[in-house]
Amino acid sequence: MWGGRFAAGPSDVMRAINASIPFDKALWRQDIAGSLAHVAMLGRQQIISAADAEIITAGLNQIGAEYAEHGVAEDWALEDIHMHVEARLAELIGPVAGRLHTARSRNDQVATDFRLWVRDACDAADAALHALQTALVARAEEHVASIMPGFTHLQIAQPVTLGHHLLAYFEMFARDRDRFASARARLNQCPLGSAALAGTGFPIDRDATAAALGFDGPTANSLDAVSDRDFAIDYLSAAAQTALHLSRLAEEFIIWASQPYGFVRLPDSFSTGSSIMPQKRNPDAAELVRGHAGRIVGCQTALMITMKGLPLAYSKDMQDDKPPVFEAEGLLMLSLAAMTGMVADTGFDTTAMRKATERGFATATDLADWLVRQADIPFREAHHITGAVVRLAEDKGVALDALALADLQAIDARITDAVYGALSVDASVASRTSYGGTAPDQVRLQIERARTYLSERTTAAGETL
Ligand code: ARG
Repeated sequence: MWGGRFAAGPSDVMRAINASIPFDKALWRQDIAGSLAHVAMLGRQQIISAADAEIITAGLNQIGAEYAEHGVAEDWALEDIHMHVEARLAELIGPVAGRLHTARSRNDQVATDFRLWVRDACDAADAALHALQTALVARAEEHVASIMPGFTHLQIAQPVTLGHHLLAYFEMFARDRDRFASARARLNQCPLGSAALAGTGFPIDRDATAAALGFDGPTANSLDAVSDRDFAIDYLSAAAQTALHLSRLAEEFIIWASQPYGFVRLPDSFSTGSSIMPQKRNPDAAELVRGHAGRIVGCQTALMITMKGLPLAYSKDMQDDKPPVFEAEGLLMLSLAAMTGMVADTGFDTTAMRKATERGFATATDLADWLVRQADIPFREAHHITGAVVRLAEDKGVALDALALADLQAIDARITDAVYGALSVDASVASRTSYGGTAPDQVRLQIERARTYLSERTTAAGETL
């Protein structure tokens, strides 16, 4: 392609280090779409003849059909996907193929292709998050009033409902969807026509190519357009944050599935056995989701470090932008599918969850609150009295509501029979009616809100899911 200036061909090592086709062939659809938009515009602007534009368009369509059927055959001498398409076009239509590259460069071409690819990746992540949220809401609805221990420091803290716990993740994933939507909105400007770095003297119509490719408009600075990859970093950062949320949910399932907890039985479809210990049901899928989060964060770091300190405009370092994005996307989409399957199909052992809640003095705060409300005791003093009650229950090896009234009154005479109404886990949960709290009524309200969100939320492209 640049043989005019070079006497000898590249060495094998040069060829190997330079070739991006092994990974950027994933951009073939975007590359052909970009070329089709470009050539249509060249024809309309009479930069090339209408007849040539028609021949090139037919050739590009044929290449698209070939790739769809057989994939892209790699030839390292042809470096990247852009040159593969152009070389095949020359085979098919002869020298007229050379007119396609008028008024553009591989620099604006790859920036355009990659934005199109990342835009689709944002939409795919959004749809997968929607499916995961739908699964969470369905399970939350089943377990609006199922009692489980709420933890802080992984110590039993206060009773909560499983529905409430699951909806916490619904909220996280809603924010992740906003992050992808915001990344998508920012990237949706078309670099095509920025050419190598400075724009072009040909009378191109950038609004037309931008519109043809579904962009909101053309980018405003050609130097910026060919040389920033912040849109890819935005995607990776949304992906990394989503992966962090997924890994926390995965970790919950791993903990809950271990025998001392026994809160869940993971579905066969998401567990594996051990080759040596027949009793094992390992939460491999959840562990891999937890592990993948590390790799996805690594991908974001990789691209940020690649971009750090690069002067304007394009440098070949930027060819390394694609592998971390492709890798992260694959890992993220698998993780989303795996967690959606696990959420949908896991069996929750609500009896074990309730038992654990009752074991952990989880209603100690309720006793302190009762002392404040019923006996008008300052909270700090109530906390102190409750501490003595917990110590006594611990010594006797019983739950708080199994202590005799006489024993309670020996600690503080102001305690009456009415206290037992506050000590059950059900009473505790039912009492937390503040907005966003764990009371079943509140959880029901949040499920309604979630259902409205799921039915009204549209994709960034404006479609309903
Ligand atoms: N394969 C290249 C990339 O992905 C395309 C741009 C090449 N531009 C250049 N000036 N060598 O970055």
